Amino acid sequence: MRFLITAGPTREPIDPVRYISNRSSGKMGYAIAEAALAERHDVTLISGPVTLEPPRNAKLISVSTNDEMFEAVHRHADKCNICVLCAAVADYKPAHVSSTKIKKHGAKFSLELIPTRDILDSLGRRQDRQFVLVGFAAETDHVEENAAKKLRAKNCDIIVANDVSGADSGIESDMNEVIILFRDGEKTKISRALKKNIARDLVKIFLDFATKTFDKKNVMIN
Ligand code: PMT
Repeated sequence: MRFLITAGPTREPIDPVRYISNRSSGKMGYAIAEAALAERHDVTLISGPVTLEPPRNAKLISVSTNDEMFEAVHRHADKCNICVLCAAVADYKPAHVSSTKIKKHGAKFSLELIPTRDILDSLGRRQDRQFVLVGFAAETDHVEENAAKKLRAKNCDIIVANDVSGADSGIESDMNEVIILFRDGEKTKISRALKKNIARDLVKIFLDFATKTFDKKNVMIN
């Protein structure tokens, strides 16, 4: 199988030296890439800026902004069987990017933000897609309920929900705990474990779903 995996944060520039971003380390997405490669699958890893060693044998595409990740995902998605969007993509970006460093003034200062493009949503809207679409939901409250809403709104096949409210699991941590929701209403949980171990189970779950989804000619059974 061919996997496309996104990982890490995006950075949305404010001026030449500042940006809006988030705490995503890339660990979860990179662990999924490693787990898929260990099972001898092809992996295209589209990564925001992280400090991790890239997995050997993955096709690594490094991006920085939401727009760059959007373009890279759309360039490669149709060549893949399973798209796993694990990146923590910025939801908003500055309406204007200053070409020079913004000077400090004594007064209050506000930034106007505009929505970025939603990559997962744009793939989910495609009627012709021939790949399994997996999203992640990073939640701090009502984790399962909010994730179920995202699964429906963004028309994914699977959404992996994780709680990002604490320091010892979820974002940045080596550990995670996830609930996997399927479009038919089924769900399963993976208890707190190293992201590396969670990734191995997730890859099995995605492959099992894909095997049931594709017929013998590799065409999706809707
Ligand atoms: O990188 P780590 O430190 O290991 O942390 C892992 C993680 C917590 C970042 C990861 O497990 C995770 O939850 N990733 C999704 C983060 C996120 O942006 O969640 P969200 O609930 O805001 O978005 C839902 C989905 O829409 C995600 O699949 C996201 O990639 C996608 N999205 C969001 C906004 C946007 N503009 N485009 C998108 O495609």
